[in-house]
Amino acid sequence: MTRKKITIAIDGYSSSGKSTMARELARRIGYVYVDSGAMYRAVTLYALRHGMIAPDGAIDSRGLADALPEISIKFSAPDAATGVCHTLLDGEDVESEIRGMDVSNHVSPVSAIPEVRHRLTALQQELGENKGIVMDGRDIGTTVFPRAEMKVFVDASPEVRAGRRYKELTEKGIKADYADVLKNIEQRDFTDRNRKESPLRQAEDAHVLDNDHMTRDEQMQWLLNLYESITTK
Ligand code: DC
Repeated sequence: MTRKKITIAIDGYSSSGKSTMARELARRIGYVYVDSGAMYRAVTLYALRHGMIAPDGAIDSRGLADALPEISIKFSAPDAATGVCHTLLDGEDVESEIRGMDVSNHVSPVSAIPEVRHRLTALQQELGENKGIVMDGRDIGTTVFPRAEMKVFVDASPEVRAGRRYKELTEKGIKADYADVLKNIEQRDFTDRNRKESPLRQAEDAHVLDNDHMTRDEQMQWLLNLYESITTK
């Protein structure tokens, strides 16, 4: 049976496990996976490296907006061992650096800058031109692909998400403090939900996946069932 090729948008709060799920779903169904958060993180790293973020957190939005056309953000081919596509900033593999606390602490205000959103939205739409894509983020089902055939909104409590993020960081050998991680998640939730431009919100036609009490396998089965039901309609 030939299935129709669709666009899959997975939105939700930070550290809700959506990237892991989205990547695995893409692998299972032979789709391209794009982590849109990594793109916002790469722009944030660029701003940090170019002195556009002051020690008090103030951002040189004008300077960053002017630099945007020159910033190249791409993804590598999947890593042979892990299957993860690494984020490339101006050709450099920055996958590990963009996951650290420095970038995490500044990415929300950077992603609230309208010019940054417009530029990355355009890049994301280009990546999804041919469908057959799973993209995860905050505004994929609302702004980037409002006509996506499959939209999922992932929800989980801040405490569960902080626990997961803490585990992820320490497993990678990155030093972290649970209280700091929880605070960072709550702050990001607030900024992501309340920014003017494309705030994090659930699309009306999104299917909600509340994964506080679900195993990874259960979540994957839930997604695959939804995918089956949409593509065999
Ligand atoms: O998914 P993540 O935690 O790696 O995302 C990092 C930040 O990027 C997050 O604080 C919000 C922002 N983001 C966004 O504004 N829009 C997206 N589509 C994806 C991420």
